[in-house]
Amino acid sequence: MTSTSARAVGSPLARLEGPAKVSGAARYAAEYPQDHLAYGWIVASPVARGRLDAVLTDPAEEDVLAVLWHGNAPELEKPDDPELAVLQSDEIRYRGQPLALVIATSIEAARRAAQAVQLEITAEDHDVELRADHPDRYTPETVVPDAPATSDTGDVDAALAGAPVTIDVVYETPALHNNPMEPHATIARWDGQDLILYDSNQHPSGIAETVGAIFGLPAERVHVVTEHVGGGFGSKGSARPNAVLAALGSLVTGRPVQIALPRQAMFSMVGHRAPTVQRIRVGATRDGILTAIDHQTCTQSSRLFEFVESASVVTREVYPVPNLRTGHQVVRLDMPTPRWMRAPGEAPGMVGLECALDELAAELGVDPVELRVRNSPENPRYVECLRSGAERFGWSERDRRTDGEWLIGFGMAGATYPAQAMPSTARVRALGNDEYEVAIAAADLGTGARTILTQIAADELGVPVEQIHIRIGNSTLPQASVAGGSSGSASWGWAVTGACRELRAAGGSTEEATFDTTALVQQQKEGRHASGAHFAEVRVSTVTGEVRVSRLFGMFDGGRILNPRTARSQFLGGMIMGMGMALHEEGVLDPAQGTWVNHDLAEYHIPTHADVEWIDAAWLDAPESDLNPMGSKGIGEIGIVGSPAAILNAIWHATGVRIRSLPARLDKLL
Ligand code: MOS
Repeated sequence: MTSTSARAVGSPLARLEGPAKVSGAARYAAEYPQDHLAYGWIVASPVARGRLDAVLTDPAEEDVLAVLWHGNAPELEKPDDPELAVLQSDEIRYRGQPLALVIATSIEAARRAAQAVQLEITAEDHDVELRADHPDRYTPETVVPDAPATSDTGDVDAALAGAPVTIDVVYETPALHNNPMEPHATIARWDGQDLILYDSNQHPSGIAETVGAIFGLPAERVHVVTEHVGGGFGSKGSARPNAVLAALGSLVTGRPVQIALPRQAMFSMVGHRAPTVQRIRVGATRDGILTAIDHQTCTQSSRLFEFVESASVVTREVYPVPNLRTGHQVVRLDMPTPRWMRAPGEAPGMVGLECALDELAAELGVDPVELRVRNSPENPRYVECLRSGAERFGWSERDRRTDGEWLIGFGMAGATYPAQAMPSTARVRALGNDEYEVAIAAADLGTGARTILTQIAADELGVPVEQIHIRIGNSTLPQASVAGGSSGSASWGWAVTGACRELRAAGGSTEEATFDTTALVQQQKEGRHASGAHFAEVRVSTVTGEVRVSRLFGMFDGGRILNPRTARSQFLGGMIMGMGMALHEEGVLDPAQGTWVNHDLAEYHIPTHADVEWIDAAWLDAPESDLNPMGSKGIGEIGIVGSPAAILNAIWHATGVRIRSLPARLDKLL
């Protein structure tokens, strides 16, 4: 029934939409031509807390179709996510909150009128500063995505008291902001009772449901078109205010309405990675066997919504320790709500854990690779990543040295990310002549999802990829899970595989098969992970404090690698994002204004080509066939997990300076 000699899966097929993208033919959400298109511009709150009493507009403003605010906006159904209850009340809960929407016949007129709008606001005192001793901090029930906030096994206090060697350190990570190349954008249009949304997101099926509910519509009455997406990293995993506002604006004006967020809005309206203060205590024997770990994270959420960055959870999953305590505390501040940002939890949590282990290795005089190997007796794939990665990188020949003004050092860290799949449905149709249409409402964020699903279907149906016609990126197709949690390929590939196998099993008696993975996914193996190891060589200038990452190498286990070209791109992208976390990225808070002051790419620094000198990734490519029919594990997020710690550990090796508060800015090194 199934083809055993896979031809397409495992080959480096180029992204199918590549030519359309580089020639400009690919359409992104804001680019769909519409008759009588109107443009929305959001008026955002200039204060972090207070009440909006009135919105005054200039009646002479030309080309303005509507100015909506809570005093005149239609009433919406109450959403689960309070940030989506836009223009529904006078309460101001964060700076940057949408308070009014101007709709005009041109984007220039909309922006001009938005700038002329006068807000009458009663401002109140705000509290925007995270401190680990904040009096309002509390322990939540759960942390993201749905794990208990605390865990406690063995007797951590006794084990730490009795340990021959202990480390007790605090690591801090700042607020970080998702900045995909394409900011969030929506064009909304009502077609009778149906709502059409051209929207940039990671989950067309979910957006249809969420926005539909707000307008009292079942999901099938909302048609979300998400053909191409210029990145998301988690910020597009759920509907953002732009989608609701565009639909509202279209409802009021009777025209299609486009809202394209300016870059500045990416720092308040689409979530962020919450800052963390992590205290990590580690106890070990003299030969480097871990006896106790206590990992406590303090982080922040908003007044509107409890979202707890799960930085301590990863410490439950990597090294088996007999005495282990983990916990989280959260403070609700007058700030925007944090959301998913690539490897939420694991990315900041592995900074704390893997830097603390580097400090332990130094204290013990044990090779950091060896320390991790000794503590991973039941994780052979992780050990293989450590050993094979070290060999390929040339870890044993590392040679701390000075080259003119530059101090050169080496560091490493481990990586892990859960392997999971979520319920999805796919449909396959025989078109005749051995051609097939494969349909699923998946979103391709530029990762290669469209290409990989085509490869999977081609092998399952035993035809070349040219004979597969893939349709994704539309909520009217069979429902698909979110392009998040590194679960897309596993979830959607499983559904596509199922549909193809059913069609083949029918042996020509039917021309169409649909497969829903819900029952299978509910039985999937729990607690399985992708793993990896990062190795970094850095140069630190003794004159300027500048850090250059001269080499960065990652060795990964992602199960079966479905497409080495797109996989490599995912790994490297994650590692580079980790470089940004280690060296550049930081939301700089102004407590007086109640916001981050750097809200564009000139002041919020992300790595560019000039920052990346030599980088590479390799992988085991060993299928785990009991996980899903492809034997694959998600690889979208693991690249960012551990790469910041490897770079920070290398900086210490080069300079003797432990940077425990990210990022490693040059002023912290001089
Ligand atoms: Mo990823 S933060 O789950 O999109």
